[in-house]
Amino acid sequence: MPKLSGNILLTQKEIAKHVAELAQQLNEDYKHQVPVLVGVLNGSFIFMSDLVKQLTFAPEICFVQLSSYHGDIKSTGKIDMIKDVDIDVKGRSVVIVEDIVDSGLTVRYLSDYLYEKGAIPVKICTFLNRSRIVKPDYVGCQLETNKFLIGYGLDLDNQFRNFPYILELDMEANK
Ligand code: PRP
Repeated sequence: MPKLSGNILLTQKEIAKHVAELAQQLNEDYKHQVPVLVGVLNGSFIFMSDLVKQLTFAPEICFVQLSSYHGDIKSTGKIDMIKDVDIDVKGRSVVIVEDIVDSGLTVRYLSDYLYEKGAIPVKICTFLNRSRIVKPDYVGCQLETNKFLIGYGLDLDNQFRNFPYILELDMEANK
């Protein structure tokens, strides 16, 4: 395993506590419904897996993949759909499931897209949030840091998603 320099932002235990709290909120809000949970690949796969195991209702679950921005897309706000939803969301209650809402552009785009497809309402459930432009409906942990994070689905060049904790990287020390 490569050695990385950084601080543990959330331990496995802390992550589990936040996931349990989110599941409790969803269990209360969706106890009489069959919503569609839409996970955003790739990052959300671990959170989605942990979350759904604790749900006491039976949602339908699917995934989308959107183009990740590297450099200019973030500033232009241009996002492309790589893998679409494979469930008809017309008239359905939808919950977007994200590992992190960072700028907020991804969930804003996806939420608009799902509303256009007839979903109603579209809520956002994210494990981590640090957006100033989007206010997710369900947030596991509100971030105060702007540092680069890895683990629990979050990657650095597609690696480290499997770390069971979240590490705040010291990018200078890892160069
Ligand atoms: C990350 C994360 C969100 C998005 C959030 O995905 O999983 O989907 O960025 O960023 P935003 O709020 O600034 O739009 P990324 O595009 O890096 O792809 P990945 O999930 O495959 O790592």
